[in-house]
Amino acid sequence: MSQIVRPDPRYQSSYLEAHDEFGGVHRDGDGVWVVPAEEATGYAGYTFTRAGLEDATEFRRLVQVRRADELPESPRPDGHVPCTFLWVVDGEEYLGSIALRHELSDFLLEQGGHVGYSIRPSARRQGHARTALRQVLELAGEMGLERVLITCDEDNDASRATIEGAGGEYEDSRSGKRRYWVTTVPSDRPEGARIG
Ligand SMILES: CC(C)(COP(=O)(O)OP(=O)(O)OC[C@H]1O[C@@H](n2cnc3c(N)ncnc32)[C@H](O)[C@@H]1OP(=O)(O)O)[C@@H](O)C(=O)NCCC(=O)NCCS
Repeated sequence: MSQIVRPDPRYQSSYLEAHDEFGGVHRDGDGVWVVPAEEATGYAGYTFTRAGLEDATEFRRLVQVRRADELPESPRPDGHVPCTFLWVVDGEEYLGSIALRHELSDFLLEQGGHVGYSIRPSARRQGHARTALRQVLELAGEMGLERVLITCDEDNDASRATIEGAGGEYEDSRSGKRRYWVTTVPSDRPEGARIG
């Protein structure tokens, strides 16, 4: 049974295997491994490479960057909003990622939405995206969001089915993206059993 967890160094080898399985275009939620520095805001940016992430210290740095992104006070590129990055795991195996942006910028309202996810190819069609989205809808509810926007490309049948399966209500399509509103769900997790 898969679950969502906060990024953790213990998944290093499985995360890198998954990255290779994605053919090097691993999205890690909506994140990327290179975010340039910004002179105007003083944001320092970061760069990670596949080879560099073999190193345990460097992988811990990636984990720290991902975990820091949900804190409102963390520096971030201009226009970016706080985002909780979560990893979908089963035991020690990294299966994919799901990200919950805490609010909508103009770009996110038009195209990106609150939630982004991907599941490694070998683990698809086993219900992991459905389960992860359900858990993120609980987290969003705990954060006080009554509904979230989730978008997908017009031709992304898998993502469309995932969103519609979660009760997504289609609003419209903009710039090739189907836009759905999904009502969040009350959490049935006891207080002490929130995401690790
Ligand atoms: C979209 C994605 C996350 C789905 O992950 P998954 O774990 O395979 O999905 P699940 O097994 O939980 O299936 C969820 C629903 O999608 C359907 N589905 C999954 N893959 C499908 C496919 N290739 N074609 C049509 N429907 C599909 C399932 O049947 C299920 O629908 P149901 O509940 O009506 O039975 C995965 O295909 C992926 O990572 N794609 C690449 C990244 C991406 O597109 N991310 C979304 C960006 S908007």
